[in-house]
Amino acid sequence: MTQNHAFPRTRLRRSRATSWTRALVRENVLTPSDLIWPLFIAEGHGIEDPVAALPGVSRWSVDLIVERAKEARELGIQCVALFPNTPPEKRSDDGAEALNIDNLMCRATKAIKDAMGDDIGVLTDVALDPYTAHGQDGLLDANGYVDNDRTLDMLTKQALNQANAGADIIAPSDMMDGRVGAIRDTLELANHHVVQIMAYSAKYASAFYGPFRDAVGSGDTLKGDKKSYQMDPANSDEAIREIAMDIAEGADSVMVKPGLAYLDIIYRAKAEFNVPVFAYQVSGEYALVEAGAAAGVGDRDALMMEKLIAFKRAGCSGILTYFAADAARLLRDGDTA
Ligand code: PBG
Repeated sequence: MTQNHAFPRTRLRRSRATSWTRALVRENVLTPSDLIWPLFIAEGHGIEDPVAALPGVSRWSVDLIVERAKEARELGIQCVALFPNTPPEKRSDDGAEALNIDNLMCRATKAIKDAMGDDIGVLTDVALDPYTAHGQDGLLDANGYVDNDRTLDMLTKQALNQANAGADIIAPSDMMDGRVGAIRDTLELANHHVVQIMAYSAKYASAFYGPFRDAVGSGDTLKGDKKSYQMDPANSDEAIREIAMDIAEGADSVMVKPGLAYLDIIYRAKAEFNVPVFAYQVSGEYALVEAGAAAGVGDRDALMMEKLIAFKRAGCSGILTYFAADAARLLRDGDTA
């Protein structure tokens, strides 16, 4: 008998032939527990205010934010991330509203925790941009440069107010040097020993944040850009230095933001540090999928799921995504094999 070497012995395609065998050899899975759902908060009662720049995303008044948190829990999502749309009259150059213990963020946090306790995690964003009249994440000096150390003092107080309101994860997104250590010290001194810090460690000065700034109302007011504190998209080693610094200062987990254009950073972070790494699939990434699908470029749900599994494959523990509820529903109801 002669062997016909025209036949390949190893056929990788054998394991791809049917749905059941694809499922057997699948290396990564996405579950609702991998998803953190960002929610925008509005003043008022009974308010749903759609965000024009983010089709399918709304700002919700505090009473309805609680309903969204319950919906998240029912879908198997373990954590929501809160972002306030502060009314314009409460924005000022010194961002004082950030330190109001009764601001939108603190009220929404408390309302969710009062209603749900430990049934869901609440992540709160620490930065001054929803509160400053100029839309920058920190306080400006006389030259218009964001002043690191004066900003730090504000951020620690803001973080403490959020923890006092019940926040489970403090997520500084401001990119000031030293903020993770300063916030950790403040939390420890106030006996908030189990409040975690998820550091926006590698946060790039990105063109993908536009729709978010509309959602929190800082888009029109923002003067200039954020390149003096957010990272240069050309840099990778610097991201590793940022992440190392935040871990040394006490971060429980780190974040890379935006997501898909920075999968290499996620992969490197996971390989080098072995800590929980999260991706923020930001507003522009979401809006581009919606716009692309609406323009007939591809199937919306398929685009959504392919992008989300890419984060798991790259090494993420989880993903902050505006798709969270829809993706969780699809995982529950749909055939995603
Ligand atoms: C603010 C903040 C931003 C985002 C999260 N926190 C915007 C910015 O830095 O200008 C962006 C999120 C998104 O685009 O979905 N510090």
